[in-house]
Amino acid sequence: MGLVLLALAVTVGALLFGAYVRAQQPVTISFLLRAVEADQMQGLAEQFMAENPDIRIEMVRGPNAADAVENLYTTSFLLGDSPYDILFSDVVWIPKFAAAGWLIDLSDRVSEAELEEFLPADVAAGVYQDGLYRMPFRSDMGMLYYRTDLLDQVGMEPPETFDDLLAASAAIQSETDVDWGFVWQGLQYEGIVTNYVELVAGFGGFWIDPETLEVGLDQPAGIQAAEFMRSLISERVSPPGVTNYIEEDALRQFENGNTAFMRNWPYAWAEVNREGSAVAGNVGIKPMVHAEGQQPAATLGGWGFGISATTPHPEEAWRVVEFFTSPGPMKDFITEFTYVPSRRALFTDPDVLAELPHYEQLLEVAETTIPRPPVGQYAQLSDILQRYLSATISNQMTPEAAMRAAAGESRRVLGTEA
Ligand code: GLC
Repeated sequence: MGLVLLALAVTVGALLFGAYVRAQQPVTISFLLRAVEADQMQGLAEQFMAENPDIRIEMVRGPNAADAVENLYTTSFLLGDSPYDILFSDVVWIPKFAAAGWLIDLSDRVSEAELEEFLPADVAAGVYQDGLYRMPFRSDMGMLYYRTDLLDQVGMEPPETFDDLLAASAAIQSETDVDWGFVWQGLQYEGIVTNYVELVAGFGGFWIDPETLEVGLDQPAGIQAAEFMRSLISERVSPPGVTNYIEEDALRQFENGNTAFMRNWPYAWAEVNREGSAVAGNVGIKPMVHAEGQQPAATLGGWGFGISATTPHPEEAWRVVEFFTSPGPMKDFITEFTYVPSRRALFTDPDVLAELPHYEQLLEVAETTIPRPPVGQYAQLSDILQRYLSATISNQMTPEAAMRAAAGESRRVLGTEA
């Protein structure tokens, strides 16, 4: 009897001890993101874990092309029971993920007044029907980078128009030892679409009107934009390898000092000016070039947080989201890596402006960015445009044939074909 009691006591003790140990173990909150960004966000994650010992953040390093990350998330959600508690989401993913029921509606957790502190376009990107599925962390917009020293050498001003860019590139390529005029993102992935959106708007046209869903690819501006991309390569303004470039490749090429101009996002500012960059201190940044008589255009980009519908830990996931999107951490992050804040007040924050005086003007650009169409079929529409742009810049199709075919396929996906 004594022995049985002892055995019982030991078993109960062991069970209680097990429960105690489990209760002490932090809950893991996991999400997938581009490897470059995981490196940058590590500091904030560590700060959070130090302040919240009951939660461990696990950032899974994914590919650096935005839509490759989207594919991985999609596969994991399709299989059910996604291993990710959080969706670290590009500005264009929400309609699909929300419509599929893969995300939790966050609207009860934030007030209207709190949301008003963010850029309206960033908030809008998280709204699907009546729900809110994404909290903005950082915004983004395409910009033109230029080499001040090279422009001085040839006695020219920073370009305003497409023709200015071509003229300045030609002068720099012939009068200095710099080989290339302009680098951008030409790989067949989401980045080429964001470049195209700026060019087509710069010619006075559009890809897909977000309100009416009209497709503008086969209109004159749509074709001109594709033609312009292609001519950059055939005229040797851009290196032939640009057809394989994502953001990081354009950045490396520009940073090596062998290119006069670059289209990239504001984060490149910190990179081109870092110690060890061959161009540090000789770089300017401005809105994108455009056709004579048109306005500069910047594609709206950016990243934010959604919470997976299948996470066993929605409360802990929300604490992580709240932390990253709160003013202090956002400010530290955007100042260190020169990202664009989603919170409006940070554009005019004295500490931010002390480091990044150009942010005052960025707010103006940030409020006039061009969104990509907020539809559930976004990934398919982007894929169509990527394929045909790629076909034309690699000389497999004329710009006109490519854009006509892309327009037709896009209308079929949208169900708007005549
Ligand atoms: C940046 C933008 C994102 C865009 C991607 C394309 O990460 O923030 O919105 O889709 O670039 O490469």
